Amino acid sequence: MNSKSPIGIFDSGVGGTSIWKEIHSLLPYENTIYLADSANAPYGNRTPQEIVDLSIKNTKYLIDKGCKLIVVACNTATTNAIAELREMFNIPIIGIEPAIKPAALSTTSKSIGILATKGTLSSALFNETSSLFTKNINLVEVIGEGLVTLIENGELESEELKQLLKSYITPIVEAKCDHLVLGCTHYPYLLPLLINILPKTITIIDSGAAVAKQTQNVLSKSNLLNTSKESPLCIFKTNTTTYTLSLLLSSYRRLKIEFEAF
Ligand code: SIN
Repeated sequence: MNSKSPIGIFDSGVGGTSIWKEIHSLLPYENTIYLADSANAPYGNRTPQEIVDLSIKNTKYLIDKGCKLIVVACNTATTNAIAELREMFNIPIIGIEPAIKPAALSTTSKSIGILATKGTLSSALFNETSSLFTKNINLVEVIGEGLVTLIENGELESEELKQLLKSYITPIVEAKCDHLVLGCTHYPYLLPLLINILPKTITIIDSGAAVAKQTQNVLSKSNLLNTSKESPLCIFKTNTTTYTLSLLLSSYRRLKIEFEAF
């Protein structure tokens, strides 16, 4: 393993490409391998043990491919499996947790909303960290049931998606939240709809840029930042169809998007 080795990124499906975009924008010369485990999505409705097992499978795959660092680009996998992964594998592993802390520090209405999966909201890690920052704050938790599946299918503008989203946003608006935390890496793809639906008084927060910064810091401390200026090899693997990955990444050139039954 050396600085030219790829960064490995995995998600339950296509949503973690929102994190890949942040990483690629900050570290444009890094080689990357992205694993979309869409055949097993959504992780959010699975048991904690299933999420751990799938996360181990994905991490092993990426380490076998020679990755120098793993980014768990999935809130559900991070909140349920990051401790097991760090114990099992001797390689830097970066996770993504909902951005409750910055929302709690900036709220003036003392009411913030979070939209995430059942798996994330019911996890011990989420409940421990969120309770640290929300002592005097009303945290409105909403499960985004069905959203991941629609995004996986590439239905980013469907009427069904709009109606679901409206129903999930209603309790957040009624509770006078001034921040909405996106607690799932698929949800940044809802931003065009959310911006139309949400009142202008609500600020939307996600953790993508923070994860990219953390990736840069960890690589730099480990002397693993790729300093060459060669154009990188960015590979995307999916164990279902390549349709939605190609759709979400259509503005990027020279990516390798491939099917593999991993
Ligand atoms: C899911 O697979 O249910 C969502 C992934 C995430 O939490 O980011």
